[in-house]
Amino acid sequence: MHVSISKRRPRTSKKTETEKHEKSLKDHPNSICSVFSSLVLYLVLLTILFLFLISLWSTSTTVVSGNVVRICISSRKLNDLYCLTAGSHYPGLRVPVSNFTKLVSENITKKEISTEEEPYRYIVPKDEVEESGLKDVNKYLKIQRSWLSIGNNQRSCKGQGIYVYDLPSKFNKDLLGECSDMFPWANFCSYFKNDGFGESIEELGERWFNTHQYSLEPIFHSRVLKHPCRVYDENQAKLFYVPFYGGMDVLRWHFKNISTDVKDVLAIKLLKWLGSKSSWRKNSGKDHVFVLGKITWDFRRKEHYSCISSFLEMQEMKNPTKLLIERNPWEVIDIAIPHPTFFHPRTDDDISSWQNKIIRQSRRSLISFAGGARPGNPKSIRSTLIDQCTSSPNQCRFLNCTSGGCNKPELVMELFQDSEFCLQPPGDSPTRKSVFDSLISGCIPVLFDPFTAYYQYTWHLPEDHRLYSVYINQDDLKANKVNVIKKLMSVTLRERENMRSYIVHELLPGLVYGDSSAKFQRFRDAFDITVDSLLHKISTTL
Ligand SMILES: *[C@@H]1O[C@H](CO)[C@@H](O)[C@H](O)[C@H]1NC(C)=O
Ligand SMILES: *[C@@H]1O[C@H](CO)[C@@H](O)[C@H](O)[C@H]1NC(C)=O
Ligand SMILES: *[C@@H]1O[C@H](CO)[C@@H](O)[C@H](O)[C@H]1NC(C)=O
Ligand SMILES: *[C@@H]1O[C@H](CO)[C@@H](O)[C@H](O)[C@H]1NC(C)=O
Repeated sequence: MHVSISKRRPRTSKKTETEKHEKSLKDHPNSICSVFSSLVLYLVLLTILFLFLISLWSTSTTVVSGNVVRICISSRKLNDLYCLTAGSHYPGLRVPVSNFTKLVSENITKKEISTEEEPYRYIVPKDEVEESGLKDVNKYLKIQRSWLSIGNNQRSCKGQGIYVYDLPSKFNKDLLGECSDMFPWANFCSYFKNDGFGESIEELGERWFNTHQYSLEPIFHSRVLKHPCRVYDENQAKLFYVPFYGGMDVLRWHFKNISTDVKDVLAIKLLKWLGSKSSWRKNSGKDHVFVLGKITWDFRRKEHYSCISSFLEMQEMKNPTKLLIERNPWEVIDIAIPHPTFFHPRTDDDISSWQNKIIRQSRRSLISFAGGARPGNPKSIRSTLIDQCTSSPNQCRFLNCTSGGCNKPELVMELFQDSEFCLQPPGDSPTRKSVFDSLISGCIPVLFDPFTAYYQYTWHLPEDHRLYSVYINQDDLKANKVNVIKKLMSVTLRERENMRSYIVHELLPGLVYGDSSAKFQRFRDAFDITVDSLLHKISTTL
């Protein structure tokens, strides 16, 4: 345990290391000796890690952080550098916390209990460094799940006030105004219409929009402004929301060759602005929340690695809760919330009529894959999947995103609604918007990396991944030990129906973002679950 704490950040200063040891000593008062022996072990491991690193350094931009190696690679989509986690194979641990298990059959529940002692192994760790990194991942997931609010139907706002800062527009709205200048080849402005939902897609229905994967900031903002518990007096507030569009801020720099200082200017100004507020200083930001519509690595520039901004590495950002579409598994208050999909219901009926439609949908394909190969990335399993898919045309349909096949959301959604299983390998980073598109289409996602969802969405997806997905180890796939088509053909009709029923009835309402006038009675959408859980978190941690 203490080993894992001390090993988390090989590059942190001596002071932090000492603090961490102190912390671990507090947790384990009898383990002083083992702390020293593990310190030796730790140094040995660290040396090995550095040697490994040096060998990697020659081929790519690599850094150590949180005892794993992250590699920054070029994103095909945006030409920018994404930091990825290498050796990202970590098992899970089950914690009976969430209230997601309502419709689960007795048999599954029993299985769950019997495996409770022994963690679910997505992949067996290769060495002790990985093992302790994993322990941390699981520890943080467990803590996050303990913050999940199961909600109350007669929502009372007593003591639950939400304060929304009225930031100068340069921190949010003005950034949307730069939409025509963000991408050299495309005008981004149409994505910001309709409160950030984008243009409506009539072919799919009234509540469907061409929502960009990075649109979470304006979507969340316009919704929170109309939250019934919003207060205008900061003394009545429990939760403080800072509507800084940090993702839009970094998006501006994807294609611009400018120095790193420039990339941090707005974030620094924001923290200065906040620093002048007594509400921020009162609890050192612990009751504050930021919503960032991009992946955490975009904000974690450190030393050598060239991810865009260093916003989340700034001292002031240690305490506030960060909501992101992809979290850093070694940061307990990096909380992942669903990528926005194309569906934005307004009423309970919008949700239930969609549920009724897709549960009855006849599905002509067993498997589908909408994606592109990653020829530049030797670690990618995408080519293997494409090969396996295209060699079984009766079972599997491939939509080639490289040749523009995925540009029309309606084509992707139609494919997913017509398929039993949707393959979801990691892309430029572990998480995918497409996982959520497939879930809301009633297509069972097939995942290859626990970082794609299982280590991410603790408030919106249950701990037992077997309830809603199929996991295939990507190393087995690369080594040709498993054929995806054969494996999925062996899933019984009954098992498929159970998973689909769980996805459609239990998960779906909580995976979509309603529009800004949404009023749900029977359901809680992704936004409601998030806000309820934030309030619950503050109650338990402040
Ligand atoms: C789970 O939620 C249902 C209603 O959605 C509630 O009746 C039940 O008591 C909850 N279970 C737990 C353990 O809180
Ligand atoms: C549980 O499993 C047993 C056999 O394994 C089966 O006979 C029974 O029908 C199952 N029950 C449910 C509720 O699925
Ligand atoms: C970026 O700008 C610097 C200095 O202005 C220049 O030396 C460098 O070649 C530029 N890089 C690219 C990729 O254009
Ligand atoms: C997908 O499209 C790209 C670009 O058109 C093409 O090079 C590639 O061969 C296609 N892949 C398959 C499997 O058809």
